Amino acid sequence: MNLLSPQPIGIFDSGAGGLTVASAVKKMLPNEKIIYFGDTAHLPYGDKSFETVKKYALRITDFLLEKKCKLILIACNTASAAAYESVKERAEGKALVLNVIDPATEFVAKEKKLKKVGVIGTKGTVSAGIYSEKIKNISPEKEVISMATPLLVPLIEEGFIFDNISNAVIKEYLSNEKLKNIDALILACTHYPVIKNQIRKFYNFKTAVIDSSEIVARKLRDVLTKNKLLNKDDRIPEHEFYVSDYTDFFETLAEMFFDEKIKLRKKYL
Ligand code: DGL
Repeated sequence: MNLLSPQPIGIFDSGAGGLTVASAVKKMLPNEKIIYFGDTAHLPYGDKSFETVKKYALRITDFLLEKKCKLILIACNTASAAAYESVKERAEGKALVLNVIDPATEFVAKEKKLKKVGVIGTKGTVSAGIYSEKIKNISPEKEVISMATPLLVPLIEEGFIFDNISNAVIKEYLSNEKLKNIDALILACTHYPVIKNQIRKFYNFKTAVIDSSEIVARKLRDVLTKNKLLNKDDRIPEHEFYVSDYTDFFETLAEMFFDEKIKLRKKYL
């Protein structure tokens, strides 16, 4: 593959959730230019068929390849579960591809003290059983309990973050008998780190809440290092943000995560 280090990194999600990962990438690799795509016109991905999610993911992949990205990070668990192989195939020879599930499951599988882990995610991610499968492939002795929490993404995208509505929904979901006595809860949806503190509070800060954004950013750094693709140019890059439809909250969230004024562009794919 003939890739050059100044080429940008493409990151996509169904909406604003992937910004949690993009912001971890920005912090860890400040020289890298990021092109972010939030597929807000098709959000949520979590209750769509994998066939449909794959179609959307491939359109975004084509767009990011046109933008000459050296690496495409699928910053969405649902799309990672539905479309990782297809995206890799489409980008073959043109860009490296990473998903958010492998780094997180490898990390959890290796944490010896975590015996029983809970996983919350979209209906798509949970019904694929992918977290349990990948963790047990490495550590068959672990107990993995997965539960779909489909109301959380719409709440977050609508800006219900630090309020009683989100707290009530979190409480309702996490009080489920299935999740009793877990050693850790994995946030298997990139939107959920936005409400991580409320989730930690539900557990009185006593249960580990695993947000994979930093784990994924570390993996991305390792892959770029291994492929000699880390950008050495230390001028501050101008990141680009695209959405397939304007939503009220996207810009606010993007500015909150990126700590800078952003110019949002609309691109329907
Ligand atoms: N942020 C996405 C994920 O990690 C999906 C949210 C959705 O569109 O349902 O699964």
